[in-house]
Amino acid sequence: MGLILGIETSCDETAAAVFDTKQQKILSNELFSQTSLHEIYGGVVPEIASRSHLEKIDIIVSEALSKAGVELDDIETIAATNRPGLAGSLLVGFCFGKTMAWAKKKNFVGVDHHAGHIYSAFLRDDNVCRFTEFPFIALSVSGGHPSLYLVRSPQNYELIGGTIDDAAGEAFDKISKLMGFGYPGGPIIEKLASSIGFEEFFDFPRGRKMAQSLNFSFSGLKTAVLYKLVELGAYDFKSGLNKEKMTDELAAKVASSFMVCVKDIFTGKVKLALKKFPEARGFALVGGVACNKYLRSELQTYCEKLGKFFVSPPTKFCTDNGAMIACAAAHGKIEAPQWDLDVFDDPDKSMNR
Ligand code: KG4
Ligand code: ZN
Repeated sequence: MGLILGIETSCDETAAAVFDTKQQKILSNELFSQTSLHEIYGGVVPEIASRSHLEKIDIIVSEALSKAGVELDDIETIAATNRPGLAGSLLVGFCFGKTMAWAKKKNFVGVDHHAGHIYSAFLRDDNVCRFTEFPFIALSVSGGHPSLYLVRSPQNYELIGGTIDDAAGEAFDKISKLMGFGYPGGPIIEKLASSIGFEEFFDFPRGRKMAQSLNFSFSGLKTAVLYKLVELGAYDFKSGLNKEKMTDELAAKVASSFMVCVKDIFTGKVKLALKKFPEARGFALVGGVACNKYLRSELQTYCEKLGKFFVSPPTKFCTDNGAMIACAAAHGKIEAPQWDLDVFDDPDKSMNR
């Protein structure tokens, strides 16, 4: 199939990568992160995101080609995320890729963002794509989704659990904002928690009602953190954050307790998923939240104790990137990638992250 150019602009990263299907290797993986544009707002502002994608897409795609040492003419297939995501952001990368494919008479593939995260499970430190044993359970945890999949083969995967309310990464982001810290919240919460040793100081809810379900719920946990801060005088519904009461020590204790709680929720779902699908050989943790070293190591220990393999890609392939989109496109006409210039982004689906 030759070289694939992968483009990803579903949220706040303008990303492009070149994948060589013969070597099964990522030749380049470039991105512009918009974090600094959004951090003062405590979250992603869709209009700012799409404008920034417009400014950067050309530069990032050119860089991806030149770092790979190839020209656009050498590319055989162009793949771009077509859903889900912020509609205005998706449209930039998607239309850019589709227009190039049309003008240069190349194959075009629209790739589901979730499929991209699942395929990131096969990307290794040396940038080579290596399949794991099948079937396995994949937990994709990002700013927009916690989703559980049973992956039977590179061409066959099934959604077995999602969220009934909020996303996991969003909970990290909101709690960081609530305590007066920046965006994205995940790395900040992890640093705060590690400063105090990932101990449990407050007993936050694990969602007992959801214990027998493969679906997630994070809104109760977010509310419990808010009420704990109110109880301790660090937050007030009228006046907001009380900076004097919101000490570094309290922030670390909240972050640490929150992390232990998230770890318990994730391990609970892994346990249940492996019980429901005993044929699964192992488990993959993917998506932005998979950058979290504590969660990676806890889940690895848990899976290995059960005799199951554990994989999680290098962090550069956990947060949104073009490599995972190219890799998904490389592995055939599976349900998610859509091989056609007629691929259309469905605005309803695109909003449903
Ligand atoms: O996959 P991703 O880049 O974008 C989406 O598809 O949403 O994930 C971004 C999310 C953010 O919510 C961010 O706070 C979270 O990943 N994240 C982390 C860490 N690094 C990024 N969450 C927990 N721990 C981290 N170290
Ligand atoms: Zn993502």
